[in-house]
Formats: sequence, C-alpha cells, structure tokens
Amino acid sequence: MQLKINNETHQVDAPDDMPLLWVLRDLLGKKGTKFGCGMGQCGACTVHINGQAMRSCITPVAVAQNAEITTIEGVDEKGNHPIQIAWRDNNVPQCGYCQSGQIMSALNLLQNNTTPSDEDINSAMSGNICRCGTYPRIKQAIKDAAKVMDKSKGAKS
Ligand code: FES
Ligand code: FES
Repeated sequence: MQLKINNETHQVDAPDDMPLLWVLRDLLGKKGTKFGCGMGQCGACTVHINGQAMRSCITPVAVAQNAEITTIEGVDEKGNHPIQIAWRDNNVPQCGYCQSGQIMSALNLLQNNTTPSDEDINSAMSGNICRCGTYPRIKQAIKDAAKVMDKSKGAKS
C-alpha cells in the first residue's frame, strides 16, 4: 500500500491491521516515534493523520492510507520550528523518551489554537505521560511557542 509521510510517498508491504507505529519504526526506520504502552494510553507514539493527533500504536495502517501523515521527523528537519526552539530554550526533555509524542500533541493544539489557556493545554496534553515529570517545562514551552506562532499568524493575514 501507499503511504504519504512527511510529504513523501512510501510504498509498504504491510497487512491492513498492522499498527501504523510498526510500519513507521520497523518497516520505514522512522524511529523518532516511540513505542511506550502499545495500548493508546501514554502518547509516546503520537503522529498526525490529516492534521489530527493520533496514537499510531492503535491505528491500523489501513486507516492512514491516502492520508497525510506527519511524524516528528516532518516537523522541521533543521529543528527550526517555533515549537522545537521553545523546547530547546526551556530544556524540556529529561530522558527524552516521551518528547516526540509530547511535541506532536502540542503542535496539534497550536495548529488549531495559538492562544491556548491553561485549561486548553491541560486538556490537549492530558493523554501524554512523562515518567520524568517534565510537565511544567512542557507547559512553558507550549506558551512560548504559542506566542511566536500567534505573531507569525498575524503577520501572514
Ligand atoms: S505507545 Fe501508543 S499510546 Fe502508548
Ligand atoms: S522526558 Fe523522560 S519520559 Fe518524558
């Protein structure tokens, strides 16, 4: 089947019910998306499918066929997206394991809402678990990125 990932088309030989996460990591070598619980409960495997944050460990690959898939590798290859800059400026990661999923969930929030309230952030991020407890820095980084993304939105309109 054909998959469009980070604006590139890939041909993969996978059964329809294989989790998208398996395809990304094992068949395509895109290891930025992490395997955590494998049950849709930790958020480590979060990617975007047609602009929606989805748990790739419980999404059969067939669902993502003919869709636009974005993984952490597709955010900005040089690491210059405002969200990546904010993550670095706030030294967010500790062990780092959960962070690609955290960034994909945060990005999904900011793509829909560049002025999120604390409640908006809490609710958008509630499904992403961090065993290192980096939550306060994640929150600050989202607020910093929101400011930049909100300005750039204003500049374009
Ligand atoms: S690995 Fe997918 S939600 Fe935990
Ligand atoms: S930084 Fe270690 S699990 Fe989140």
